[in-house]
Amino acid sequence: MKLYRANLIFTPTKDAFRILPHGYIAVREDGIIDQVYESLPQELQSLPVTDYGDRLMIPGFCDLHVHAPQYRNMGIAMDLELLPWLTTYTFPEEAKFADVNYADHIYRRFVHELWMQGSMRSAVFGTIHPEGTRRLADLFVQAGLGSRIGLVAMDRNAPDNLRNTPQQAVQDTLALQQHLSQHGNDDLVQTIVTPRFIPSCTPQMLTALGQLAKEQNLAVQSHLSENRSEIEWVRELEPESSCYGDAYYRYGLFGQQPTLMAHCCYTEGEELQMMKDHHVYVVHCPTSNCNIASGMAPIRTFLDAGIPVGLGSDVAGGHNFSILRIIQYAIQVSKLVYAQTHGELQFLSLSEAFWLATKSGGSFFGKVGSFEPGYELDALVIDDGYLNYDHYTLEQRLERYIYLGDDRDIRWRFCRGTKLVEPVM
Ligand code: GUN
Ligand code: FE
Repeated sequence: MKLYRANLIFTPTKDAFRILPHGYIAVREDGIIDQVYESLPQELQSLPVTDYGDRLMIPGFCDLHVHAPQYRNMGIAMDLELLPWLTTYTFPEEAKFADVNYADHIYRRFVHELWMQGSMRSAVFGTIHPEGTRRLADLFVQAGLGSRIGLVAMDRNAPDNLRNTPQQAVQDTLALQQHLSQHGNDDLVQTIVTPRFIPSCTPQMLTALGQLAKEQNLAVQSHLSENRSEIEWVRELEPESSCYGDAYYRYGLFGQQPTLMAHCCYTEGEELQMMKDHHVYVVHCPTSNCNIASGMAPIRTFLDAGIPVGLGSDVAGGHNFSILRIIQYAIQVSKLVYAQTHGELQFLSLSEAFWLATKSGGSFFGKVGSFEPGYELDALVIDDGYLNYDHYTLEQRLERYIYLGDDRDIRWRFCRGTKLVEPVM
């Protein structure tokens, strides 16, 4: 058993923080939390304690939607909406990942950045290229970060050098899965079935991927109802489907396996009901939605309906990897929704947004994102001393850290109980 002592802050429910001033976490050898304590019980008092003093200790962050090959486009190219943005800026950059040396060069920086920002778990889009995507997965294994890595499938409406066939997408995903299972990384890094979105995938591709997910018991990730022109295009491409979500569902890609759907800015009615019925995750990406002018997802409606929700950076639609900034944007965008609906959709509280980034998003990976017995210890130790020139409560300290702090304040990072060293870039 290992013991850690710090100011513990986490969200067992979305409605309130649980705060243990100078509390203790007891962690088993396998990285699972045994118990948290306000003060140390008699029987544990002989054990050594790692004492982080007056620092904050919070669950590690979860980035449920991010595109590794778009790393170089971060912070540029925000003058177009989704569809022209993809063809003008995104596809040409992703095509470069046919070169595994280029992939290595970019992906090292990408994985380093996730480590730096405290994103201990992520769901990642690679490209159609098997060598580069395997390189990406290997870098996650080396870093000790938990991840779901997707070999992207696309066989229509894309340049010739950025298409694979259904057979290739299936074979390359299987090969990646096999490669990872031989790595001995205890499933921390796994593959995830990744149709880019409906406009990129023929019915043959979607059929093959749905079958693959079912046969191999793999999770699924994609994009849903992000942008109005995209939704209109999907209606034309899949006229038999009753809504965009139904176009995935018909191929076994909408909750038949654990499923992440990024954006959902315009999800309502039947699509919303389907997400609830099939436990499909909404991945809210508010920075991306602002940058490429997609819209504002009604997160309160999703929460009220009991649909699982997590947060994503969606780099490079999103300009920033920091989950702190994503929490901040999620709250601020929810306040715009609140104003626009004349108060009908209540905005997110701080604890709700923090919960989305930790326990709610973490639930996609198992028992992840909270400091409760049975949870894997993913944690960040925060050195916010410079922000505390006056007295603030611990909850205020966390709020100030979320709004004013950054990765430089993260002193140590843990994923599944292991303290991570800085990955080589
Ligand atoms: N829809 C299909 N591909 C993409 C992508 O790369 N980024 C975003 N934001 N939406 C998409
Ligand atoms: Fe995306």
